[in-house]
Amino acid sequence: MLGHLLHLEGIDSVIVENRSRDYVIERVRAGVLEHGTVDLMVKAGVGDRLLREGMRHSGIHLAFRGRRHRIDFEELTGHSITIYGQNEVVKDLIAARAATGRPLYFEADGVAVSESRMRFRWNEEEHDVACDFIAGCDGFHGISRPSIPTSHLRVYDRDYPFAWLGILAEAAPSSDELVYSLHERGFALFSMRSPAITRLYLQCAPDEALHRWPDERVWEELMTRLANADGWRPNTGPILQKGVTGMRSFVAEPMRWGRLFLAGDAAHIVPPTGAKGLNLAMADVSVLSRALAAYYRDNRQDLLDEYSDRCLARVWRAQRFSWWMTSMLHRASDGNEFDYRRQIAELEYVTSSRAAMTSLAENYVGLPLENAFGVTN
Ligand code: PHB
Repeated sequence: MLGHLLHLEGIDSVIVENRSRDYVIERVRAGVLEHGTVDLMVKAGVGDRLLREGMRHSGIHLAFRGRRHRIDFEELTGHSITIYGQNEVVKDLIAARAATGRPLYFEADGVAVSESRMRFRWNEEEHDVACDFIAGCDGFHGISRPSIPTSHLRVYDRDYPFAWLGILAEAAPSSDELVYSLHERGFALFSMRSPAITRLYLQCAPDEALHRWPDERVWEELMTRLANADGWRPNTGPILQKGVTGMRSFVAEPMRWGRLFLAGDAAHIVPPTGAKGLNLAMADVSVLSRALAAYYRDNRQDLLDEYSDRCLARVWRAQRFSWWMTSMLHRASDGNEFDYRRQIAELEYVTSSRAAMTSLAENYVGLPLENAFGVTN
């Protein structure tokens, strides 16, 4: 996305990816786009398929004690969310990049960055690129953040005593909207990818062994945690994919070291409960592309200097929201019956008070992009 936004400003970039094209296109990730992310893609001219195939949702359900309660985002905030797989976003961006003819290297290895050079090996050739700027968009396990001296970074993090077991099933979604459920046996989430594909998750142990979860056991547990008094339950079908997603909150500050800028998961991780990961990455690169454009067009440094603070203001709000959703909806191994009753009380409040519902809704659909000084742009 950054490469494309820079292209629109007439700025050259070289994109280096360690994985293969098939891997990044096939790998199933999250699938909820905030309205601001959709707007950004549409304005950047990469939103045609998203508008055609994305599934617009005007709310979600919170389920507990066997009942579903709807939160109406559209009515409370005037905004909706769009279900469109992250790998579909990646597919569209790769196609857009290819159409520009600008460089995009897959399966590069030996990638190393300093403040102003990027070295990598591709097709058995050594590349050494002199860069005005480097954007580390290479995820939590990438090489960019570790290239910054540790004395320059401050890290804040929290692990959770659970993870998600996720499946993709060939089954028509049985609800038009997502269902987040807290059950005595733990969290479960009903989501989807298309009119024919359901995506489901179950809270499990962080070190859960997949071989202990044959398909029948996965369905049985999902049905127990999601079954509703009104008779609603997910449709079943062949399981196409199964995996465990870890849960962590993490922020590295500042998101810049000289001419190296961190964006997305390279700088921050949220647990998936708030569906914020991809959206935060989009917000980061939107701020960064504008700062770089102002540098080249008007010789301005100020937006580059503000980059980290502006992004972090939004990142911390999303951290708070993701942590809150996670704590409200999961059963912690160190929790007790008091905690469970408190969580139920919180869910009752969130699904009955208009103020509380609005707070959830405005965070879920996406807060406006604000800078550190509270100015919206
Ligand atoms: C998903 O569809 O993969 C999904 C939806 C909502 C979440 C996380 C993941 O909070």
